[in-house]
Amino acid sequence: MLVGKKILLVIGGGIAAYKSLELIRLLQKAGASVVPVLTRSGAEFVTPLSVSALAGQKVHAELFDLTAEAEMGHIELSRSADLVVVAPATADLMAKLAGGLANDLASTLLLATDKRVLMAPAMNVRMWEHPATARNLETLQGFGVLTVGPDAGEMACGEFGPGRMAEPARIVEAIDATLGSGDLAGRHVLVTSGPTHEPIDPVRYIANRSSGRQGSAIAEALVRRGARVSFITGPASAPKPLGCAVIEVETAREMLAAVEAALPADAAIFAAAVADWHVKAETRSKIKKKGGETPPPIELAENPDILKTISHKPEDRPSLVVGFAAETDDVIANATAKRQRKGCDWLIANDVRPETGIMGGKNTTVTLITQDGPEAWEPMSKTAMADRLASRIAEALS
Ligand code: CTP
Repeated sequence: MLVGKKILLVIGGGIAAYKSLELIRLLQKAGASVVPVLTRSGAEFVTPLSVSALAGQKVHAELFDLTAEAEMGHIELSRSADLVVVAPATADLMAKLAGGLANDLASTLLLATDKRVLMAPAMNVRMWEHPATARNLETLQGFGVLTVGPDAGEMACGEFGPGRMAEPARIVEAIDATLGSGDLAGRHVLVTSGPTHEPIDPVRYIANRSSGRQGSAIAEALVRRGARVSFITGPASAPKPLGCAVIEVETAREMLAAVEAALPADAAIFAAAVADWHVKAETRSKIKKKGGETPPPIELAENPDILKTISHKPEDRPSLVVGFAAETDDVIANATAKRQRKGCDWLIANDVRPETGIMGGKNTTVTLITQDGPEAWEPMSKTAMADRLASRIAEALS
């Protein structure tokens, strides 16, 4: 599945570095060749000899290595691969790239590369949760850096929580998804997903039951066909899709800003269950329950309609805009009218009456409404529906 692909693998200095040996083995089994780069601290955890023996290649370690510069300069090294993978990506490596530092071979390569970068973060849970790491992650995602993991669980340091490097098999899946060469290769597709949260005060918010499962499935189906996907998600419970640039937002207004920042795109799929309203006067202090008083009124104001805004954009409108409609009555008539109202090209209508089990479930029954009218699809899993949609998108963009 990765036959002929060249992966530049940067091994950072963390206990998870031992898993990078297994990663090399799995990548080779999948047909890829691995050019290893070992940081100085990475070499404290795995030896250059074991890395080079497994990769069947020289290990690159020093920035000012005259022999290596004569054979292949570090800039060329960063460009000759199909993908740069950093596993484990330590807090230090993440900070270096986020800050634009280039003081060793690994950081120089990361800054100089014109290829996509996929990071598999691994660090102590406190380090992962530190605001500095969170800020660096956000910066890196803004640069288009992809991430896989970290997983939650017991860590080598004895603590528990998120910070464990994703398993090598999952990293290979993410690499495969990123390098997928299909009929959407070279296309940029934007997907919104999940619910939005609209704050009432610092501790309360208005939400909805969207799991984000359909949006994640669509994003992964697009990635499998080779698209570059910007996945803009509210706080969803479904796992984040692999191989996408994930942009996390909370409110509808933040989602619109993130969508606009991610344009231009060839297609945009609006699968998010965006809240229609936000609280007009969100308070900075927690609303207190004062005994005997009537409950406080909550005044709502309308949120921007993201789908409608993008569909009517005079510039930068994606050539294919797809919306979703969750309906309980007169599904086709309501959805057909909604397609007109929103100005999108396609609308996917879901019958969300509770007895259908679609909302939050694994299966779905949809009708695709285009300018040619409704087209009922047979009941299928959300993954199968995502594949069918991705294939139709590829057809429409060809
Ligand atoms: N949508 C959006 N921004 C909003 C509301 C909805 O982008 N503020 C998008 C959704 O992502 C979905 C489509 O619009 O693709 C339909 O959303 P829905 O809530 O069903 O439509 P409404 O216009 O809110 O109609 P109603 O609630 O009356 O059914």
